[in-house]
Amino acid sequence: MIYFVTGNKGKFVEARAIIDDLEQRNIGYTEVQADSLEEVATFGIAEVMRKLASPAIIEDAGLFIDHLQGFPGVYSAYVFDTIGNQGILKLMAGVENRRAVFRSVVCYGEPGMEPRFFRGEMEGRIGYAPRGEGGFGYDPIFEVEERTLGEMSLEEKNRISHRARSMMALKEWLDLGRP
Ligand code: IMP
Repeated sequence: MIYFVTGNKGKFVEARAIIDDLEQRNIGYTEVQADSLEEVATFGIAEVMRKLASPAIIEDAGLFIDHLQGFPGVYSAYVFDTIGNQGILKLMAGVENRRAVFRSVVCYGEPGMEPRFFRGEMEGRIGYAPRGEGGFGYDPIFEVEERTLGEMSLEEKNRISHRARSMMALKEWLDLGRP
């Protein structure tokens, strides 16, 4: 059994659909301000290991918008909590290049072991208005082939998402016996 330390139920449900053996723990950890998702996760997993001392993962994700030179990127949580989807849509008003990428970094920790990283990406576009009631966060404004993630079922999102890919990479490594 592996703890997934997160307060985000949506993330947990997506991950649990890929890895059976997960249990959500909402014990919190400091999300440092850093230049990369990996750095945020490295600090996070060290704190989680001090608290839990058992196999655990954390995940850090971000939305990187081409036209905004990768913003909000590592600031995605703060930006979502402040200006939100409407704020992003305003920043993108009249912009033709709407390409964006979601990135996910999963960090696996175990007592006495160096943390391991697993990554996933999904390309898409920022829509013109929020659509769909599903998912969480930026899902209603992130489109893949004309539909937003908010309009997809969990199964559909999990076929293509950044998180599904990083969790699949973790699963493969676990299934191989953690080489
Ligand atoms: P964090 O990984 O929890 O720091 O996520 C950063 C921000 O991106 C949060 O506001 C999340 O809601 C948002 N986010 C992370 N993953 C997704 C996703 O799969 N879809 C939409 N928004 C996401």
